[in-house]
Amino acid sequence: MTRKLIVTSALPYANAPIHIGHLVEYLQTDIWVRFQKACGNTCFYFCADDTHGTPVMIRAKSEGITPEELIRRVHGRHLKDFNGFQIEFDNYYTTHSQENRQLSERIYQGAKEAGSIVKKTIQQAYDQQEQMWLPDRYIKGTCPRCKAENQYGDSCDVCGAHYQPTEMINPVSAVSGQTPILKESEHYFFRLSDYEEELKKLFDKGYVQDSVRSKLDEWFSAGLKDWDISRDGPYFGFKIPGEEDKYFYVWLDAPIGYMASCKNYCDRNGLDFEQVWNGGEYEICHFIGKDIMYFHALFWPALLMAAKIRVPDKLFVHGFLTVNGQKMSKSKGTFIMAETYLKHLDPQFIRYYYASKLSGDIGDIELNTEDFVSRVNSDLVGKLANLASRSGPMLSQKLGGRLAVLDEKGRALADELAAAKDEITADYESLNFASVVRRITALADVCNRFVDEVRPWATLKTDPEGTRTNLTAVLNAVRILTIYLKPILPVFARNVEAFLDIPPLTFADVKTVIENKPIKDYIRLVERVEKEKVYAMIEDSKPQAAQTTQQLDEPIAPECTIEDFAKVDLRIARISKAQPVDGADKLLALELDLGALKKNVFAGIAKAYKPEDLIGRLVVCVANLKPRKMKFGLSDGMVCASGPGGENVFLLTVDSGGRPGQRVH
Ligand code: 2FM
Ligand code: ZN
Repeated sequence: MTRKLIVTSALPYANAPIHIGHLVEYLQTDIWVRFQKACGNTCFYFCADDTHGTPVMIRAKSEGITPEELIRRVHGRHLKDFNGFQIEFDNYYTTHSQENRQLSERIYQGAKEAGSIVKKTIQQAYDQQEQMWLPDRYIKGTCPRCKAENQYGDSCDVCGAHYQPTEMINPVSAVSGQTPILKESEHYFFRLSDYEEELKKLFDKGYVQDSVRSKLDEWFSAGLKDWDISRDGPYFGFKIPGEEDKYFYVWLDAPIGYMASCKNYCDRNGLDFEQVWNGGEYEICHFIGKDIMYFHALFWPALLMAAKIRVPDKLFVHGFLTVNGQKMSKSKGTFIMAETYLKHLDPQFIRYYYASKLSGDIGDIELNTEDFVSRVNSDLVGKLANLASRSGPMLSQKLGGRLAVLDEKGRALADELAAAKDEITADYESLNFASVVRRITALADVCNRFVDEVRPWATLKTDPEGTRTNLTAVLNAVRILTIYLKPILPVFARNVEAFLDIPPLTFADVKTVIENKPIKDYIRLVERVEKEKVYAMIEDSKPQAAQTTQQLDEPIAPECTIEDFAKVDLRIARISKAQPVDGADKLLALELDLGALKKNVFAGIAKAYKPEDLIGRLVVCVANLKPRKMKFGLSDGMVCASGPGGENVFLLTVDSGGRPGQRVH
């Protein structure tokens, strides 16, 4: 019996491009959707851009464009990236749509009628210069616990502390650099606790994976708190009906965007949206990352319950991407944008690699660059594509491109491969793609051994018809393996279908074979991945482009006057000595010659400069900096440099025309 499914991935935020971390989810979902379709099920894959909220509003302002213009631009860019990775949505919409506005109002109204919306007065940070309310992430300051500077208003990256922005030392607005004030405002809250019992029943029915259930139990024990669903203007979003300057918080209308995308699709394709979403005929499945579990496991179903709308059936949660054992990092070049990847590498590599790593649990997914190269080359190219390239060209070029009828051993090989179908489909269904890949690779080993045994290259001249029969067996094996691989590698499959000259393959075709028919010229399926290209992609991910985003988010420091600035005595200095510092791999010990005097300075530039390259260079030095006692000695000055740090530090140098000790104006 066939099934009907609605499947979604989390809606990417519309202020930034897609990166390889996002792709874990979109590829996981795309593979599952393609699998469902290949089984003959009706399956719609819906997604959209998540367009509302403060980050979009601020980014648009900083670029001097309207939020509408920004989200239009980003929408095009996102779609281009998804297409590049062969991710195929049935509808890719936007949350800034009429459908989403209407559905958001309907759900809000439903929750209101259910008595689950309450008003409360809260105190919130406000930027008087920009005349805007500040979300915690838009406040920066010193951590109250470890005193690390430049931390966000809700948590500290250095010591991991969570706090209120009011507890921070020297908080400033990340937008204007001014100290925010605390101001009162009335907000609307959704009373989540009204739905506690119903939510527990949903989990008992298997809404989430077991590993996620324990996290939810923790949240229930901690008590379900009211959720603030309104924001005061200025805000880019939907106005709350009946209010002058209040908007729905972006996280209220974002998941409703799943429904809006579905509605837009239904309206354009003659389907009854109410019936599709609410009729109970379709299973509704969401794919998300573990960072947004609270929203999807609690708020989202509870909102639907309040509005008496059908709740989803399944929430599939995955882990984060780590690259070479660490979080993606801009300075290491592992924060790789989809576009940068596509400039250097074939999307099939990462589709195959992620599939080989995804097993359906919430553990993190590790992309190890060495392992990436070796898996693609040894398994995808060396075993799977090789099977086709060992048989296809020989048959089409040397034997007139015609398949024979299978003999007994060819039949046996096809039967052996077809027998794996149930296990492979069960693995796909449970999102254990790693097991799918292992099974397919093991079957490819069987097939390659078959080729080694029948040695078609050796029998081609002496026994062309026997060779044709053996190659027919190999090409049937390629066909069955391609059926299994198709959800992961749709383009590979399309090329196999083209050269075998057969209609699009589905899982039902596993039972049949192709015989006694012509085939077309062989099409190369996938090339080896070159290590150099992987390194080039990483290099390409390091430079300025990535830093611009980082720097735009940096708050401007509090204002200083010209008098303040004039206190800084900047002098040209010649670096007379430079050496590494034992026990501090980021520091270099510099001796600066300022003509009349010498200064010793510890500078955090060791990752960017070799000591021997610095000797003799003219730099700009803060000559009147109060000496600082450091673990390694006294530092009595500072050299001027720019850049975010690490390898990306650039000393301010003086090319010519300056002499040590001269004042810099
Ligand atoms: O975390 C995010 O990037 C959000 N834009 C995901 C939203 S998913 C859904 F609720 F819209
Ligand atoms: Zn801290």
